[in-house]
Amino acid sequence: MSKLSGSKKAAQFSESVIREMTRLSQQYGGVNLSQGFPDFPAPAAVKAAACDAIKADVNQYAVTWGARPLREAVAREFTRRYGVLIVADEQVTVCCGTTEAMMATMMAIIDPGDEVVIFEPFYENYGPDAILSGATPRYVTLHEPDWTFDPDELASAFNNKTKAIIINTPNNPTGKVFTRTELEMIAVLCRKWDAIAITDEIYEHIIYDGQRHVPIATIEGMADRTVTLNGLSKTYSVTGWRVGWTISPPSLTGAIRKVHDFLTVGAPAPLQEAGALALGLPGDYYAALAANYQQRRDRLLAILDRHHFTCFKPGGAYYIMTDISAFGFPDDVAFARYLVKDVGVAAVPGSSFYKTAAGRTKLRFCFCKKDETLAEADRRLEQLVPAGVTRH
Ligand SMILES: Cc1ncc(COP(=O)(O)O)c(C=O)c1O
Repeated sequence: MSKLSGSKKAAQFSESVIREMTRLSQQYGGVNLSQGFPDFPAPAAVKAAACDAIKADVNQYAVTWGARPLREAVAREFTRRYGVLIVADEQVTVCCGTTEAMMATMMAIIDPGDEVVIFEPFYENYGPDAILSGATPRYVTLHEPDWTFDPDELASAFNNKTKAIIINTPNNPTGKVFTRTELEMIAVLCRKWDAIAITDEIYEHIIYDGQRHVPIATIEGMADRTVTLNGLSKTYSVTGWRVGWTISPPSLTGAIRKVHDFLTVGAPAPLQEAGALALGLPGDYYAALAANYQQRRDRLLAILDRHHFTCFKPGGAYYIMTDISAFGFPDDVAFARYLVKDVGVAAVPGSSFYKTAAGRTKLRFCFCKKDETLAEADRRLEQLVPAGVTRH
């Protein structure tokens, strides 16, 4: 074979379907309910802090593992909220988004032959993350309609080769919020098999119906074997800033920082300064964030329901998984393409979140959008007719 081709690793996964749907949406003038980014402004104080930092010439590399004010803020807030002492110098590493935080963590801890347990459906990136880091994924099903897992199935996914389990709570794409009892079950297995919990908590503050977010690092015996990932993207509506972080046990921080340094050197310096201010926003900012998203969730649930989708009501994050069987399309990709080209609404085919065929009857919509955007999607979806029904 010619050497002018990509690596075997790169050949094992396809380009992101989520990002592709955004491009198709732009091409066809669609209402973009695919990729999870808000179409409304970020908080004024956070934007002003970024502008101030640039004007004050915070324009050169920050310390590779993160500017001190942001690292201190990350440690302070986690300790204040959850009562687990975090030492910024030993445990916090700032990365280019939670995306890089996950990649740096996986590359820092995985050896060839190691297995990683991943719940299915999963956030699209975790599959390529596993391939690029050399891990063998072991999938465990989250069962519809409430996305619970079978404790026996989970237990049988662990063995001597298990290096880590990836948790994402609140969860993308399902909106599942893992309960303390579920996290305790996972913790028992991590302790038994000496495995690491890598937990993506990027939707920590986007949680509904009075539920509380439980970080697995707060479960007994887990602080020393958990890498918690988070970032500015979702909490402060700045997905384009690319600032995220890891909170790791000191035993893993050195490896994560080395990988991070050689992957990206560091996250944008002025935006880290703004991040330090953002993390200090008062409690009512976070309460309003969750309350506003809950309203948008209820609005999109009502719209999708009216247009014949079967919805799985999310308890957190800003996505709604739907069942599309009523429309009689051969599969989710065909339906998503029809929806963006002919109806003018972009959503993500369910198969992007599954290894198995279960995703082929599903579509994910996001609701981190202005009222007008959701109203326009509603208007366009009027054209949709379920299979077997003719419009008069
Ligand atoms: C579960 C999850 N993790 C990570 C990310 C990406 O985060 P970041 O923008 O911090 O790289 C997303 C974005 O949609 C996500 O849904």
